[in-house]
Amino acid sequence: MEAKLLKNNTLLFSYQQSLLYWYNEHKRDLPWRQSPNFYHVWISEIVLQQTQVKQGLNYYLRFIDAFPDVKSLASASEDEVLKLWEGLGYYSRARNLHFAAKQIAEVGQFPQTYKDWLTIKGVGPYTAAAISSIVAKEPRAVVDGNVQRVLSRLLNYSSPVNSTTGVKDMQTFAEQLLFKDKPGDYNQALMELGAKVCRPKNPNCSDCPVQEFCH
Ligand code: ADE
Repeated sequence: MEAKLLKNNTLLFSYQQSLLYWYNEHKRDLPWRQSPNFYHVWISEIVLQQTQVKQGLNYYLRFIDAFPDVKSLASASEDEVLKLWEGLGYYSRARNLHFAAKQIAEVGQFPQTYKDWLTIKGVGPYTAAAISSIVAKEPRAVVDGNVQRVLSRLLNYSSPVNSTTGVKDMQTFAEQLLFKDKPGDYNQALMELGAKVCRPKNPNCSDCPVQEFCH
């Protein structure tokens, strides 16, 4: 069954507003959310890959403290960068981040669009969508495991989200549901919902702001 949400614009708008209202009330006060810029959001998104906010936050703060801008990161030694990453795991993230900082410093400015961010080492479609929507308000939908789970529940999607069709469909649905006036807030609201309410086990449906739209 095709979800009504995808076919009815009034319903869609109502869903988007409910989600955004909830986000504004409940969002965590995270340092990269206060006047977002490319450097802070980029670092936060790399730190938060495979890592929960609770665990990544201190690493993010120490990292920004040691390397306040892309120039200082580019001119650091790999050892210094890896030392700050110690304990966080997936060290290729830190190596790629360091390499990417040199890439960006060489050009002299941050990539300005989703497409340009994809040319940066360690940045894939998810990260490019997150950065360009949050900082540049480019209408790009983020799709990660959390978003796949939330959307498949919302739309009562029955195929596996990790099948070829499933991945494609989730991308299409995410783009159709995106609130294009505030793509950064909308994307972060979905991620926040997946982390706090629409959890993998024991989702807290009674506290869900979009329960009335959910299949
Ligand atoms: N996980 C990855 N990026 C995030 C963000 N911007 N907000 C909340 N959780 C996230």
